Amino acid sequence: MMDTSEHHAVEALRAARHVVVFTGAGISAESGIPTYRDALTGLWENFDFAELATPDAFRRDPALVWGWYEWRRMNVMRAEPNTAHQGIAAIASKVPRFTLITQNVDNLHERAGSNQPIHLHGSLFSPRCFACARPHELSCGIPDEPQGGRRLEPPRCQHCGGRIRPGVVWFGESLPKAAWTAAMSAVEKEGCDLFFSIGTSAMVYPAAELPFAALRRRATVVQINPDLTQLDEVATINLHSAAADVLPRLVEAAWPNT
Ligand code: OAD
Repeated sequence: MMDTSEHHAVEALRAARHVVVFTGAGISAESGIPTYRDALTGLWENFDFAELATPDAFRRDPALVWGWYEWRRMNVMRAEPNTAHQGIAAIASKVPRFTLITQNVDNLHERAGSNQPIHLHGSLFSPRCFACARPHELSCGIPDEPQGGRRLEPPRCQHCGGRIRPGVVWFGESLPKAAWTAAMSAVEKEGCDLFFSIGTSAMVYPAAELPFAALRRRATVVQINPDLTQLDEVATINLHSAAADVLPRLVEAAWPNT
């Protein structure tokens, strides 16, 4: 059963010209990938980011950091996209214009059929050299690293011999410039009239500026999150449900039997 807020979201979807979807870790929660800040299960509740997610941490103990990210990559490779990832891919095929911006470093959007999402915080699947920044080709198989935190020496760059680092954005680093420019441009210049913020605590900047930029452009902003965030006060519509529940309902109601 849909409530009034969901009906409003469906109307907005049907009328939209350019939909921008902005996702965070919550969208992958039902695929079994832990979020960062949820109590008990969040990564930053269980691991110290200062030991694992900064350039200094990698300089200090590259094997600890590389092993942890390989463990996370393994978990993603063993997971499957859920109905929220699929719902977003379905929306993309229905609306005149669509942009997907994710903070996630997994590849579940792509595997659900979303074409080239903008990865604001990088990806577990695009490592590069810590010294010369050249990209590094990963071996195809699922890494056989069974436990989080187990040390693993990073591979060496075939060009300069430097250590390979995970292709994610660490604390203290800037967002990839092209990704940030594309995201801001989608919201500010390319006529976004409907903006979804899904499964993010909206606490990490500059990414968390995007919903506010959309509001300034007078877009309808729909938040999907079972918990409260700072967006609850400003979003046009708040849907307090799990993304994997609500997104298929919205798609089915907006475009029945397609
Ligand atoms: P957080 O862990 O901060 O927030 C996840 C959000 O998802 C929370 O607000 C949850 O309430 C919500 N959530 C949980 N289950 C959900 C579900 N089934 N459906 C919908 N929402 C659900 O994760 P992010 O906001 O993505 O940065 O974190 C932002 C950045 O902080 C990450 O990209 C990462 C981290 O440090 C980098 O790696 C640079």
